[in-house]
Amino acid sequence: MRMQSTNVLSMTNSLPASIDEIQELLAEGRYVADRSLATVLFLALRMGRPLFLEGEAGVGKTEIAKVLADALGRRLIRLQCYEGLDVASAVYEWNYSAQMIEIRLAELGGAAERERVGRDVFSDRFLIKRPLLQALESDEDGAAPVLLIDELDRTDEAFEAFLLEVLSDFQVTVPEIGTISAAQPPVVIITSNRTREIHDALKRRCLYHWVDYPDAARELAILRARLPEAPEDLSREIVAFVQALRGEDLFKLPGVAETLDWAGALGELDRIVLDPETVNDTLGVLLKYQDDIAKIEGSTAKRLLDEIKADLAVAAAQ
Ligand SMILES: Nc1ncnc2c1ncn2[C@@H]1O[C@H](COP(=O)(O)OP(=O)(O)OP(=O)(O)O)[C@@H](O)[C@H]1O
Ligand SMILES: [Mg+2]
Repeated sequence: MRMQSTNVLSMTNSLPASIDEIQELLAEGRYVADRSLATVLFLALRMGRPLFLEGEAGVGKTEIAKVLADALGRRLIRLQCYEGLDVASAVYEWNYSAQMIEIRLAELGGAAERERVGRDVFSDRFLIKRPLLQALESDEDGAAPVLLIDELDRTDEAFEAFLLEVLSDFQVTVPEIGTISAAQPPVVIITSNRTREIHDALKRRCLYHWVDYPDAARELAILRARLPEAPEDLSREIVAFVQALRGEDLFKLPGVAETLDWAGALGELDRIVLDPETVNDTLGVLLKYQDDIAKIEGSTAKRLLDEIKADLAVAAAQ
């Protein structure tokens, strides 16, 4: 569990007043956002619109929602999407076994008891609320939660159409109960790895941002924020090497997640500088396809390493 922050925002349920403030809040949560991301996040919050984030794997899409919820002092509700996700898992389902027990018990009672149970079994008490329904309920202090709809591209189009309805009105109809509306619409963050295109109708409801790989300066800032114990020179080498690797023709480029993992791995190995042997031995932390590893291992790794060391030496001398 994350600690809930007790900053001014969480006490007042208000929203950040400026882009700078958003950037500071994220930084407090050790998230290094560039100006364009902070701007679109600011606008999504102020305008009450869902934010649709697309980007490669491991570039920090999911993490934004987590850090934002923490920074705003709000509950995070996560809907992890997958193929075949249905209303019963995403919105609500009836607790059949509890309903059956209630009915069996009522059978022992009189007619009045049976009539009561007939009504009661379709009440709130027997309703299992899944993420989309939970997201319509405010916290005790009246603040709406942050709803993360993660990896939407993994669901099918039928679910997407259903989601479109929920996101337009922030209400859900349960036939036996009626329509449940959000007193306050949740802050919605949707992510996609773009394994398929999301329908225009849904995108139109949202503000859009492509989360790109960070440039070297931002990646170094991320590394410092997340792994402050990593030696500075090593961190610079790690970032320069990963940035160089992203310029190679690979099936799957390393994300920020891999950079952080690699820094952690090198720490475990007590390395303070990169050398060809260590790079070759630890490539599996950065690259997850054998063809990619085979391509880089050996001479390419050596060439990239020589290049980045030369560049870093020039930069240090300036
Ligand atoms: N800008 C950033 N600031 C701080 N940490 C970051 C940043 N970008 C990525 N990270 C870190 O990288 C890791 C991966 O991030 P995350 O899981 O959010 O990626 P993702 O884009 O959701 O990837 P996937 O598409 O595989 O789900 C996390 O540990 C996160 O903390
Ligand atoms: Mg993710």
